[in-house]
Amino acid sequence: MPTQYEELAQHLQSRQYTWLITGVAGFIGSNLLETLLKLEQKVIGLDNFSTGFQHNFDEVRSLVSAEQWRFFTFIEGDIRDKDVCREACQDVDYVLHQAALGSVPRSIEDPITTNENNISGFLNMLVAARDAEVQRFVYAASSSTYGDHPDLPKVEEKIGNPLSPYAVTKLVNELYTDVFARTYNFRTIGLRYFNIFGQRQDPNGAYAAVIPKWFAGLINNETVFINGDGETSRDFCFIENAVQANLLAATATNEDATNQVYNVAFGERTSLNELYDYIKERVEPSNITARDAKPEYRDFRAGDVRHSLADISKAAKLLGYAPLFSVKEGLDKATEWYLDNA
Ligand SMILES: NC(=O)c1ccc[n+]([C@@H]2O[C@H](COP(=O)([O-])OP(=O)(O)OC[C@H]3O[C@@H](n4cnc5c(N)ncnc54)[C@H](O)[C@@H]3O)[C@@H](O)[C@H]2O)c1
Repeated sequence: MPTQYEELAQHLQSRQYTWLITGVAGFIGSNLLETLLKLEQKVIGLDNFSTGFQHNFDEVRSLVSAEQWRFFTFIEGDIRDKDVCREACQDVDYVLHQAALGSVPRSIEDPITTNENNISGFLNMLVAARDAEVQRFVYAASSSTYGDHPDLPKVEEKIGNPLSPYAVTKLVNELYTDVFARTYNFRTIGLRYFNIFGQRQDPNGAYAAVIPKWFAGLINNETVFINGDGETSRDFCFIENAVQANLLAATATNEDATNQVYNVAFGERTSLNELYDYIKERVEPSNITARDAKPEYRDFRAGDVRHSLADISKAAKLLGYAPLFSVKEGLDKATEWYLDNA
């Protein structure tokens, strides 16, 4: 029996829709772009290159056919500009809104800029998508919304207080979509991503995520730092699982599935110490020096939660979400990219 995702892929190959991906030059956005172009979909992309890159487009272009690449139209612009959002939403069927400033530490250092991008920019997109009468607005929510709630695994209905300005912005996104459903009958789906990783996640800069940063550190023989004792844990989720969740969310026909938020994760917990070992094992074959590498432990980081693990049964039940890659399988798939791009 084909899975819901296989059926969807088949359907998309027989019918072309128009998708808007905001944040299309970034990690998750460029992976959505690659998958949709390979499924012969028409894609409009919006990005201001604040944390995204032209080289992500170059890479996607090399992975799709010339004909598929022609289905992509790029608008360089900022979601803080209402007119740009309106232009981007014209004649769009599905919006996948990824543009935001990620990173908890960045938001602690500069809450105002995070707020402008993640709340004002989000609201501009929501209004533009509503006015353009798109079929569905799917947006990147975040596991940070669970904040200080102690329960594990995390279930969508039980959230705590946000622990960082970034988490506040992602919670406000959810509040706005809830109000837009009640007030304007506008249909949205929020995807609470849990530590997504994979090809094209930026390994550089002060706010790089842990997996690309550690790969780069071990490949380049630099010290890898672990914040805290290494027993902090996360539900790391390979990018292709997150892409699946987006496509299923955008096209779900079940009325009960809309105006909801969903955990997007694999549903397993990995400690930072385990993660370090997994990455080291994958770097060692091409860099023998990594065999002697030892991580350096330092203070816990402000705003971080201790453990994170998702219950993914809601997305499984209402969207047919069935993640295909475990953490180890995802690391295996992405290792070559990390080796080439560290
Ligand atoms: N990667 C994760 O583990 C994770 C976890 C939870 C939530 N998220 C959310 O998923 C989304 C995508 O994250 P990512 O990891 O791909 O990050 P990313 O930084 O690689 O991508 C974000 C993209 O948005 C663009 N952007 C930012 N502000 C913009 C603006 N004002 N106008 C236009 N474009 C703008 C950036 O240039 C970048 O290309 C974000 O909303 C992020 O908060 C990611």
